[in-house]
Amino acid sequence: MNRIQTPAEMTAVVEELKSREKTVGLVPTMGFLHDGHLSLVRASLEKTDVTVVSVFVNPAQFGPSEDFREYPRDLNRDSELLEKLGVDYLFCPDNEAIYPSNYQTFVEVRNLQDKLCGKSRPGHFRGVCTVVLKLFNIVQPDMAFFGQKDAQQVIILKKMVRDLNCRVNILTLPIVREEDGLALSSRNAYLNSRQRQAALCLYRSLQEAGRMIGEGERRTAPICQRMEEVILAEAETRIDYIAIVHSASLEPVEKVSSDCLIALAVFVGRVRLIDNLMTSDLPAFRIDQE
Ligand code: PAJ
Repeated sequence: MNRIQTPAEMTAVVEELKSREKTVGLVPTMGFLHDGHLSLVRASLEKTDVTVVSVFVNPAQFGPSEDFREYPRDLNRDSELLEKLGVDYLFCPDNEAIYPSNYQTFVEVRNLQDKLCGKSRPGHFRGVCTVVLKLFNIVQPDMAFFGQKDAQQVIILKKMVRDLNCRVNILTLPIVREEDGLALSSRNAYLNSRQRQAALCLYRSLQEAGRMIGEGERRTAPICQRMEEVILAEAETRIDYIAIVHSASLEPVEKVSSDCLIALAVFVGRVRLIDNLMTSDLPAFRIDQE
């Protein structure tokens, strides 16, 4: 595996590959890789000729009081994991390479960026869109791979790609979970053992929502209320939001249908965790559609 640190070198490599008609897959990450990230890498290895994984902890997507400095980093471990999988290129630029001094240009997807996670993390999606568009320009991938874990992120990035005519195909891969249901996240490393147990309530609340929908409930209010109860039954939890929204507009709905996103963000201690469920994945709606 080749490790590349500058955008110029990355672009030169990709241009050479393209001249030989190779297809390029990009997996953007902030590192500290786990099986969720690796599922995206495997998909890229399967679907494209050459896979580039980027590891860059993007300062532009962290708020001033967020965990940019403490965000877990271990580039050597990441590099070993990627090498083992057979990844071709690891792109790991430093901050100066991505945001040279006097950097001024940012990408915003208005409206969508202000909802759900955007409410409590102002500027977050502006930072995400900016860095991802830069990565698209540097790597020129045919396909880019993202996780359903960050449902709003992928909805916003798809909108950006449509609005800005980016020539990349975005593929979304399912949420990878621990055996007990906790969605894998680099931030799980911050949880102590008590909090790790409490953190299961996110998944449990989604299962409760799924159960209620399976039993015929369609009103979102009682579903959200039940989810809230499940979360608040655990010590050290604080709800940022619980929302049932239309999966394209992210607008709240009163009745659940087959194209809704059920999403939540919960602080467990000081760790902010997210999880979600697409109603199209529920048996109730798979049957409805038949
Ligand atoms: P990061 O949190 O490192 O995640 C990188 C990719 O891995 C994202 O597409 C995310 O959705 C996916 N991912 C994380 N946990 C997952 C899980 N449990 N199952 C499946 N996929 C999972 O998301 C970012 O980085 C950044 O915002 C980035 C897109 C790299 C821009 O800086």
